[in-house]
Amino acid sequence: MRLKDKVAIVTGSGRGIGEGIVLRFAEEGAKIVVNDVNEADAKSTMGNIKAKGGKAIAVVGSVSSREDVQKMFDAAVKEFGTVDIVVNNAGITRDVMMHKMTDDHWNQVIAVNLTGVYYCMQCAGNIMREKGYGKIINISSTSALGNVGQLNYSASKAGVIGMTKTAAKELGPKGVNVNAIAPGMIWTDMMKSMKPEVISQMDAMLPFIVPLNRKGSPQDIANLALFLASDESSFITGQVIFCDGGMKI
Ligand SMILES: NC(=O)c1ccc[n+]([C@@H]2O[C@H](COP(=O)([O-])OP(=O)(O)OC[C@H]3O[C@@H](n4cnc5c(N)ncnc54)[C@H](O)[C@@H]3O)[C@@H](O)[C@H]2O)c1
Repeated sequence: MRLKDKVAIVTGSGRGIGEGIVLRFAEEGAKIVVNDVNEADAKSTMGNIKAKGGKAIAVVGSVSSREDVQKMFDAAVKEFGTVDIVVNNAGITRDVMMHKMTDDHWNQVIAVNLTGVYYCMQCAGNIMREKGYGKIINISSTSALGNVGQLNYSASKAGVIGMTKTAAKELGPKGVNVNAIAPGMIWTDMMKSMKPEVISQMDAMLPFIVPLNRKGSPQDIANLALFLASDESSFITGQVIFCDGGMKI
């Protein structure tokens, strides 16, 4: 088992990529803190882990609230004694062309995707610095390189890359690895919520924009997250690994 008895918090793990990550981590022996704003989804993921004999708790809360984030870390320490791995996965989109973007579109995305990662990395760093060990994995996006209709989202995901590199420099001497994953098109509710005509256009274009000619799955991201959470990647820090079927080669 590659994560035996490690304690992992994965934000936004009630569904989608986050759910894929916690299920994979639990298979490898990690004790899991499932976090989500959606209580039913958080509890359902926790139930799925427990049904397979894993250990998990569900903590409902928003990563955009410093208070909720602190409570989540406190709950993890109370239940499992420490935190070894944090995956900052919770994220939202409010896609709209720049000329139609409102301050609400901007502020909501920045609050969750950027400020949320800041709160979680700060709490994680406090615990991991002291114990001299930890793995932080931030979920960025290929959209960090720019994408039409995603000014807010691409700003947040590019910001996550900057924060990843800074945190890696600050926490490296303390034994903490900080890396980012930049997923491409992953078939989750986030993608499924796009307009049907956009999805069919993307499907038609797939062979031309994705060399591996398929959309990704949560398992594709979970396998990479597992590598970055394990000690197999102990000499890797501050990196952004694109998991996108070659879309951004
Ligand atoms: N799906 C893709 O194609 C894709 C591509 C690149 C990056 N990503 C990133 O991967 C991550 C996961 O995306 P997904 O496709 O699984 O999305 P998703 O919408 O299917 O799942 C996101 C989960 O996060 C939860 N969440 C939302 N706001 C939250 C908050 N404030 N606090 C805690 N939980 C919150 C949601 O309730 C949901 O369960 C996101 O950061 C997303 O930006 C996704």
